[in-house]
Amino acid sequence: MAEHVAALLPAVRSDLALDNRQSPSPGPGEILIRNHVIAVNPIDWKRQASGFMISSYPVVLGADVCGVVAEAGSSVTAFKSGDRVLAVAHSFCSGNNDHGAFQEYTVVKATATVALPREMSFQQGATLPTAAGTATMALFDVLDLPQVTTGETIHASQVGGTANSSESSPLGILVWGGASTVGFLTIQLARLAGLTIYAAASEHHHDHLRSVGASMLVDYHSPTAVDDLLAGAERAGSQIALAVDAISTAETLASVVQVLSKSTAVTKKLAHTSPWPKSVPHPEGIETGAIRGDDFSHRREDLSIWLCNLSLPKWLAEGVIIPPAYRVIDGGLGGLQNALNELKKGVSGEKLLVEV
Ligand SMILES: NC(=O)c1ccc[n+]([C@@H]2O[C@H](COP(=O)([O-])OP(=O)(O)OC[C@H]3O[C@@H](n4cnc5c(N)ncnc54)[C@H](OP(=O)(O)O)[C@@H]3O)[C@@H](O)[C@H]2O)c1
Repeated sequence: MAEHVAALLPAVRSDLALDNRQSPSPGPGEILIRNHVIAVNPIDWKRQASGFMISSYPVVLGADVCGVVAEAGSSVTAFKSGDRVLAVAHSFCSGNNDHGAFQEYTVVKATATVALPREMSFQQGATLPTAAGTATMALFDVLDLPQVTTGETIHASQVGGTANSSESSPLGILVWGGASTVGFLTIQLARLAGLTIYAAASEHHHDHLRSVGASMLVDYHSPTAVDDLLAGAERAGSQIALAVDAISTAETLASVVQVLSKSTAVTKKLAHTSPWPKSVPHPEGIETGAIRGDDFSHRREDLSIWLCNLSLPKWLAEGVIIPPAYRVIDGGLGGLQNALNELKKGVSGEKLLVEV
């Protein structure tokens, strides 16, 4: 039996350690990827620190892979050996180490696999799976927007609400944490949905976020950020009816709730990336929903197919969606622990990667 190297988490709060494990074969509808670049996500260090969603050790963490198809399982027709791909690795919900990203070979679902355009690097591809999947779940699952191709304009009446002033004015969406990788992809997908985008991010990201679709930006460090957003929406004659809080701390949710509460929109919806904090009262008149990125390739396999198989390959090839910036951490699989430590300290507008 062939073996490969994996970065295993031996116990809660331990460091990752390299070891060999048996290389798996893909089942029906699955693909075995030889990973070239792996990205880390906040959930990885959170699980390492807490044991969240881990039933036994050692465990292979990680959700973002980019590489080459080593073997396509039976019934997979869209991908073949040698294809360059990126994919969401789903061990978080399957609990199966073969589906974890932090190793040389990972088994993924064909429905959560994206053909990597020729002009994109493995590094760029690895920045995308979780960020794009989460942004999709935020907009098209929690906020329940109609799936769009490009540039269609969504109006209030299409999302179960009515606008107070003008039924024809495009819906406004607030993306708090626009420079996070989830926020960055949310802005771009919201632009394709024709929404007017308001975003909160550090000032040094404003030009870049404007270039990918944000109409108005505020610096979240500013004490007037909430009032500035509301004044901006009023000046533009648009209503902030929707919000994605990509950060979802008690502080950010309180700000986002303030914006929605004071907005003149009738139907208001808020998608959050982390569980609702006990210290923040549930707002009246605002529908709130937790984004379940792990549901992407399960409960909402339709969205996974729509994004991964049908839309994203085209959007990436055409430059309609661009990947976030990235930084490579040295050491290959052995560098993953450093990458997790760096991510936990905090990053600004970049994805951390290791090359395998
Ligand atoms: N529910 C799910 O399924 C799911 C899926 C993926 C991620 N998540 C969660 O979503 C969060 C974001 O993940 P990510 O990978 O996108 O994170 P990330 O890229 O590592 O986030 C870093 C960014 O956060 C921004 N930020 C920090 N504090 C902020 C604040 N108070 N207001 C606005 N922006 C702030 C920083 O912006 P500046 O650079 O502008 O300072 C920085 O660029 C994490 O908590 C993660 O665990 C949840």
